[in-house]
Amino acid sequence: MIPAVIISKKRDGQKLTEAEIRFMIFGYARGDLPDYQMAALAMAIFIRGMDPEEISQLTDAMIATGNRMERVSERPRVDKHSTGGLGDKTSLILGPMLACCDLDVPMISGRGLGITGGTLDKLESIAGYRCDLSEQESQRQLAKLGCFITGATETLVPADKKLYALRDVTGTVPSVALITASIMSKKIAETLDALVLDVKWGTGAFLGDLDKARELALSLCANGKRAGIATSALLSDMNQPLGRMVGNACEVAESIELMQGKGPADVWELTRELSAYVLVSVGRSVDLEQARLLLQGHLDSGRVMERFEQMVAMQGGDLGQTRRLGRVTEVRADRSGWLERIDGQRLGQGVIVMGGGRMQAGQSIDPSVGLAMERRLGDRVEKGDVLVQILCDDSVKTEAARGLVLDSICIGERPVDRIGLWQEFESGA
Ligand code: URA
Repeated sequence: MIPAVIISKKRDGQKLTEAEIRFMIFGYARGDLPDYQMAALAMAIFIRGMDPEEISQLTDAMIATGNRMERVSERPRVDKHSTGGLGDKTSLILGPMLACCDLDVPMISGRGLGITGGTLDKLESIAGYRCDLSEQESQRQLAKLGCFITGATETLVPADKKLYALRDVTGTVPSVALITASIMSKKIAETLDALVLDVKWGTGAFLGDLDKARELALSLCANGKRAGIATSALLSDMNQPLGRMVGNACEVAESIELMQGKGPADVWELTRELSAYVLVSVGRSVDLEQARLLLQGHLDSGRVMERFEQMVAMQGGDLGQTRRLGRVTEVRADRSGWLERIDGQRLGQGVIVMGGGRMQAGQSIDPSVGLAMERRLGDRVEKGDVLVQILCDDSVKTEAARGLVLDSICIGERPVDRIGLWQEFESGA
């Protein structure tokens, strides 16, 4: 087969065969197909899309580039995956919390993608934390502790590891086909019993509108169910960052505060709701209300924090070492009114220009930079009020971020109606 012919076929909007998809994916995972040809195919898929059969074949081809995880205990094996959004730190809390419910949570997470931060980049702001556990190490940790958060390995969906990094820097992230295959290949390879998906929409997510997010949720759930996984999905609103912090070290700090009982309500409510769906899916709770109470109990007792500390320690991290945050620069409102709109794309670019995200594959991250959002959508603000704190030591980068932050915030003359943080899309129970 000839790569350029397959790329042209998709470019012209034709359906690819299973053999063609496998040829490209296996070739890329092996290193035979260069980045530029894979990037061209990703762009063709981004523009032309794939039908459900092609998406399933793409997912299966990606899984087949590596191994599937063996079971290590009798405990149900569960996970959650988010399609990515600004300030999304739910994984840091959800993994240890579900492990407290006597479930195994093998989290294979990603790095920052597009404007959204990555769980691995956040965790690596903890001194020593290892996101490169071998398959044996992660299995051992799962058996002992019930959770880990690590990256895709050379043996578990290696195709996604490479393709994910390539998409991040080639403008090919917001594609239903590519997101579905990327997420579901990792989840199916984890050999899960239940999965909850947090499908994000809005200005701070890859998919701006709710209809596109529904299409993605449908594609993800169909793929999960096809693989025998009880899959549920919530559609969650990313028209403003989740929680107050956007960045890496600052999001870890906020997650720790939450696990110590002092974190922002929206982060906790979404994390608890996603976890509740999992508990109902595996029959640990009879309904969502019972599940929420159980989870609240684990948080209030300090057990979630304790499990997080154990997880970090087992992965080599030292929570005792201070995680430095950048110098604070305040961004103030230039007029009075109501906070009407936040352009999450611009806000996310603000973090990237300070070094909190990547402009090129493999670039290192400055964990100390970030944003602290001082106002929520719909809030009344007076001229001169602090809207955002920029955390960054470098004044040139701070200025670049300040321009983007100011551009991202729209203050209107009337109060705005807000819809709920999430909507149920599908229950896997
Ligand atoms: N998360 C993933 O793992 N992959 C994507 O493509 C998007 C979000």
